[in-house]
Order: sequence, then structure tokens, then C-alpha cells
Amino acid sequence: MNAKEKKYALVTGAGKGLGKAFVYELAKRGINIILVSLPGENLKDLSSDLESTYSIVTAYYETDLSVGSNVIALSEWVNKHFNVYMLINNAGTGGSRRFAEASVEYINQIIQLNVTATSLLTHQLLPNLIRQKQAYILNVSSLAAFTPMGYKTVYPASKTFIHSFSRGLNEELRDTSVFVSVVNPGAMRTNPEITARVDKQGFLGKLTLIDPDKAAARCIAGLLRKDSVIMLNPISWLVLSLIPIWLRLPLMTNAVKKEVCA
Ligand SMILES: NC(=O)c1ccc[n+]([C@@H]2O[C@H](COP(=O)([O-])OP(=O)(O)OC[C@H]3O[C@@H](n4cnc5c(N)ncnc54)[C@H](OP(=O)(O)O)[C@@H]3O)[C@@H](O)[C@H]2O)c1
Repeated sequence: MNAKEKKYALVTGAGKGLGKAFVYELAKRGINIILVSLPGENLKDLSSDLESTYSIVTAYYETDLSVGSNVIALSEWVNKHFNVYMLINNAGTGGSRRFAEASVEYINQIIQLNVTATSLLTHQLLPNLIRQKQAYILNVSSLAAFTPMGYKTVYPASKTFIHSFSRGLNEELRDTSVFVSVVNPGAMRTNPEITARVDKQGFLGKLTLIDPDKAAARCIAGLLRKDSVIMLNPISWLVLSLIPIWLRLPLMTNAVKKEVCA
């Protein structure tokens, strides 16, 4: 069977963090994977390990998804060589800054990666997904989608976009073979920067903490079950939504301010 006859899941941001947890969860389920991440993050070794440990087939593609033309080039390569029945738009970036002091590059990077790359990749791979008997899209949003925050501003707004985009697209594709799901994780200790941030935020930061491997397993189970919204931290979400916005907004903003002004 050549690559075009097999079916693949494509995962962006597959090199580390939640994306890496996704690829191991998919591999355990015997699913072939196309891994996408920035250049120089050892996708070759990761792919070899997945193939030898789980007897699956993998392919990898290294590119900066915050550049629109790279997303188009990736899509053309994927559509030419592979059948994709699962797309996981996981790559995302954030950060905490005073908005006035943030660079143009910082603002653009968040919007281009979180918003533009997710929308464009989904758009470009949709004909491929629709051709499959059953296909799935999982978009990674955040609990931050429900809480605007000073000193983060652009990141939560980008995740609100992802939440709204996913729900709207799922409704639009109701009569097709493609099911769209969105996940809203709370904090995960995926990299040293986020770990340090969570620790500085104290109680509020730790309130929503979840292990990335458990998060990935629950996401894939929820996606295959066709949950349109996957809530990994329902209790935290309930607690957050019970706090009125006039109180939640300054509380969250103060928590983030601590790390920016430390
Ligand atoms: N961690 C949390 O607390 C948390 C909470 C809620 C939501 N999320 C969301 O979960 C997703 C994964 O987050 P994470 O914590 O696992 O992040 P992470 O540890 O920083 O990993 C991000 C992944 O995205 C890739 N990536 C970053 N910029 C890229 C670019 N310009 N082009 C292509 N790939 C790029 C990275 O590639 P390389 O491997 O090549 O560096 C890496 O594999 C993100 O969408 C994030 O917003 C995270």
C-alpha cells in the first residue's frame, strides 16, 4: 500500500508539549501520523521512534506556520501525497506583556500562528478531509477563550476566535463527513516557560492544571466520540464561570500582572 492509499492524522506543533502527547496517543491507537513543527526540533528522530515502537507509518514536515505561504506549501504537499482523515490544529503560542511594550513581531506571531494558520490549514485540507468516509478536525483553544485578561490580551482573544471558528464550522459541515471539535484546556506544564508562569500565578494558576498526556488521551477519545466541545477541566470552568466577569477580569489580570512586573 503506498502513502496515498493509507490514512493519516496530521498534527501541528508535534515536536513537543501537548502536540507530542497527541502523536503518542494516536500512535498507541495505531493511527498513521504526519508530524508538523518548526525546523530543528528533531521530528526525524521522533518519527523513527513512533514507527519502530508502534508499527505505524509517519511522515514529517518542518516549517514555520506563522508564515502564510508556508501553510499553503505544506497543504499542497499533504494534498498531493496523503489522505488525511484527522487534522489536529495544536500549534499555538502566547505570552504575557504590557500591550504598549509588545513588539509588532510578538503580536503578529500570536495572530498568524493561532488564528491565520489554523484557519488556512483547515481551509486548504478540507477537500481532502471531505473525501474521507469519516474525518475529524480538532482545534486547540484554551480556557482563556472564556476570560479576557489584561497583560495577555491578544492570546485569549485568539483562543476565543478558535472556539467560535470551530463551533461555526462544525455546524456548517453538519451534512458532510467532517466533524469539528474544539478543546479548551487549562494550564499544562508543557514547557519551562509555562511551568514558571503557572508557579508564579499561585492558586489561580494551579486551579486548572492538567497533565498533557492525560489531556491528549481525553481529547482523542472525545474527538472520536464526536464531542463538539471538549472541556478538560469542567470544575475549573464552572468555578470560573460562577465568578462574575467584573470580578474575574481584575482577578485574572492581577495574576498575570504579577509575572509581567516581577
Ligand atoms: N500549555 C498550556 O498551559 C496550554 C493551555 C491552554 C491551551 N494551550 C494550547 O495548547 C497548544 C499546545 O501548547 P503547548 O503548551 O504544548 O506549547 P509548546 O510546548 O510551546 O509547543 C508548541 C508546539 O507548537 C510548535 N510551534 C510553535 N510555533 C510554531 C510555528 N511558528 N510553526 C510551526 N510550529 C510551531 C512548536 O514546534 P517546535 O516543537 O518545533 O518548537 C511546538 O511543537 C497551543 O495551541 C496552546 O495555546 C496550552
